[in-house]
Amino acid sequence: MGMNMPSKFVVEGGARLHGTVQVSGSKNAALPMMAAALLAKGATVLRNVPDLTDVHLMAEILEILGAEVTLFDEPGVVVINVVDESPITAPYELVSEMRASFCVLGPLLARRGEAHVSQPGGCTLGERPVDLHIKGIQAIGCEVELIRGNVTAKGRPTGGRVYLGGPMGPSVTGTANVLCASVMGSGVTIIDQAACEPEIANLVEMLNAMGARIRGGGTSRLVIEGVDELKPVDIAVIPDRIEAGTLMIAGAITRGDVTLERCDPDVMLALFDKFTEMRVPFERLDASTVRINCPHRAQSADLVTLPYPGFPTDLQSPLMALLCTSDGYSLVEEKIYPERFMHVPEYRRLGADIRKQFNTCIVTGVDKLSGAPVAATDLRAGAGLILLGLVAEGQTDVLKIQHVDRGYDRLEDKLTALGADIKRVDYFPRRRASDRNSQRARAA
Ligand code: EPU
Repeated sequence: MGMNMPSKFVVEGGARLHGTVQVSGSKNAALPMMAAALLAKGATVLRNVPDLTDVHLMAEILEILGAEVTLFDEPGVVVINVVDESPITAPYELVSEMRASFCVLGPLLARRGEAHVSQPGGCTLGERPVDLHIKGIQAIGCEVELIRGNVTAKGRPTGGRVYLGGPMGPSVTGTANVLCASVMGSGVTIIDQAACEPEIANLVEMLNAMGARIRGGGTSRLVIEGVDELKPVDIAVIPDRIEAGTLMIAGAITRGDVTLERCDPDVMLALFDKFTEMRVPFERLDASTVRINCPHRAQSADLVTLPYPGFPTDLQSPLMALLCTSDGYSLVEEKIYPERFMHVPEYRRLGADIRKQFNTCIVTGVDKLSGAPVAATDLRAGAGLILLGLVAEGQTDVLKIQHVDRGYDRLEDKLTALGADIKRVDYFPRRRASDRNSQRARAA
């Protein structure tokens, strides 16, 4: 990966994918679990961590917060050794790079009694507020204020009743923050409308292994009895269900035969339900292996994104890629991030037929797409563009792949192993008029 030079993926469409790949660990489980390591002094070991730029960023934040972090001395292993428990501030430079860094708020508050974490801004998915995180932490007896762009939380959690339901459902990282804030301290905390995502269940498993007393992980009610002290742990991150889904869709869209190992089919039922509706044949070979073998064109299907166990918003743009090439019309409704359709104009550049109004798109499947240069607007949009590139005629250049690198661990290697023609290519950034002017000024 060139350090200063941007990279793009050059995809040549047409190959039918076939073969076996192993799914990496979950990004959205790993990031809050890394933050939760701040709850105990000493060395926490996380296994099956994906090698992503977001994980490297979280490591940088933890180092600012007094941890020594060792990344991938062994494959998948991250060691977070908390040595200095005095820092309490997560700066804007890092939080603005990655919203998940807001997950340090709960652990810092619980363990160090005070936390200053920059308020994250909006992003390409929309506004992305943190009001539920704040409301939850206030409900367990702590003070939260916004001071000069920092969310400042203080006090010792005393327990309480927390209702985390928002207009778009519960908040996933909001649940992680309130959970981590309430594990240490006095009293009992009951969180209702907690996020039920498997990534939260994984975090609960970790916290309980550290000595926390939490019941109800993976359900909408979490009951937490505060404890005085937590100890570091050694624990594995669950498989990434979004990466697994993306790779299955890659199999389906190329009419290939793809087997995924080290995944968890039990948490992918909403996607499987769509595959059944779309007449995409798949089978569960064992508890951690699935195979998709789809020699024909998929049928259209309607899609609504919902909190888990509903269809995940993170697979909306990848599945939409498959719908773009399926037989018939599909309705896609986004109920988590109503504005998460930045990929639509890029899909259209490849020949997709999509009409959009507010949070809903009508996708008409087309017989043929043709390659073009396109740009990833966010991580999952980038994945969707690669999927379309795999079946578009000719060459598709996917630019802005730094978004893809945030959340997919060597996606191009996995696709190449399955027979795809995809290359990472460095390219010279376009020179801006202002650069040319300053060059001229220097020359003069
Ligand atoms: N929301 C509020 N108030 C809040 C927090 C959220 O109204 O205080 C709203 C959001 O605006 C959104 C909905 O609630 O409409 C759900 O947002 P949530 O807080 O659950 O999202 P998140 O925790 O910030 C995580 C994942 C996202 C994933 C969403 C939804 C991590 C690190 N990120 O974000 O992952 O899309 O849950 O499932 O876990 C991705 O991996 O590409 C990604 C964006």
